[in-house]
Amino acid sequence: MNEIVIKQNIVPNVWLMGIYSPQVAKKAKPGQFVILRVTETGERIPLTIADFDSDKGIVFIIFQVVGKTTSILSTLNIGDSIADFVGPLGMPYEQDSNDKSYLFIAGGLGIPAIYSKVKMLHSQGKDIEIIVGGRSKENIFFEEELRKYCSSLYISTNDGSYGQKGLVTDILTQLLENGKRYDEIFAVGPVLMMKAVVDITKKYGIKTLVSLNPIMVDGTGMCGGCRVKIGNEIKFACVDGPIFNGFEVDFDGLMKRNSYYQDLENLSYKEHKC
Ligand code: FES
Repeated sequence: MNEIVIKQNIVPNVWLMGIYSPQVAKKAKPGQFVILRVTETGERIPLTIADFDSDKGIVFIIFQVVGKTTSILSTLNIGDSIADFVGPLGMPYEQDSNDKSYLFIAGGLGIPAIYSKVKMLHSQGKDIEIIVGGRSKENIFFEEELRKYCSSLYISTNDGSYGQKGLVTDILTQLLENGKRYDEIFAVGPVLMMKAVVDITKKYGIKTLVSLNPIMVDGTGMCGGCRVKIGNEIKFACVDGPIFNGFEVDFDGLMKRNSYYQDLENLSYKEHKC
C-alpha cells in the first residue's frame, strides 16, 4: 500500500508521483488533498490531488522540493512506499450548474491544482480559459495537458523567458479591460498572487474562488493549525476548505501565519542537506 508506481521529473525540482492507494483514488474528487508522511517519524505535509485514476487505484501528486520532507520524498523511487497517505481530505470543488464560462489562474505549483477541476468542467461542456504563470520558462509545466481542456491558454513569466513578460494579473487586467467576462474565476498559487487577483476581480464583481494552502498538521479540524479568517468567521481550511470565496479571505492574516515556522523549516532543510 502507498507504493510509488509512477515517478517523473517534470521540470527542475518538481516531481510528479503516482501513488497506489485504491481507497483514496476511489473517493477522490477535484479540489481535495492528501496529507502524507514519508517516514514513520516524519512531518505531515498536505498536497493537492492533481489527478486520480479510480480504476487503477492511483492518486497523482505533484510537489516541488522546498524543504526536508519534499527532499526525502524526491529521493524515493518506483517500488518504494510512503509511510502514510491519508485522504481524500477537504471539501470537493463545487461549481454552480448555471455557470458556463470559467477563467482559471494558476501560479507556480498552483498549476497542477487546477488540472482535475478543468478536466471535470471540460467534460461538462463548459467554456474554460486559463492563465498560468511562473518565474521563468522552467516553472511552466503541464501546458500541453491543460491545452486539451481549454479554449485559450495564456502564459506569463516574470523574466519574459516564455509567454508574456510580467504577472498573471497583467493578463487578467488586459482580458477584463478588453471586455472579457466570466461566470467564475478560480485562482490558486502564492497567497500574494491570489490576493492580487481578488483585488482586481472585486472591482468587476466577478465571483472568485481561491484554494488555500495554509500550515496543516492533522487535516481533520482538530489542531487548529490551518485556521483562516473568512469574512467574520474563523474556518479550518482542512475541513471547511481548502476552497473559499476569495472576497472573504483575510490574506494578510494568512501570510502572517504561513511565515511563523519559516525559520525552523529553513533550518531543518539546511541540516538535512549537510
Ligand atoms: Fe489541523 Fe486543519 S490541519 S485543524
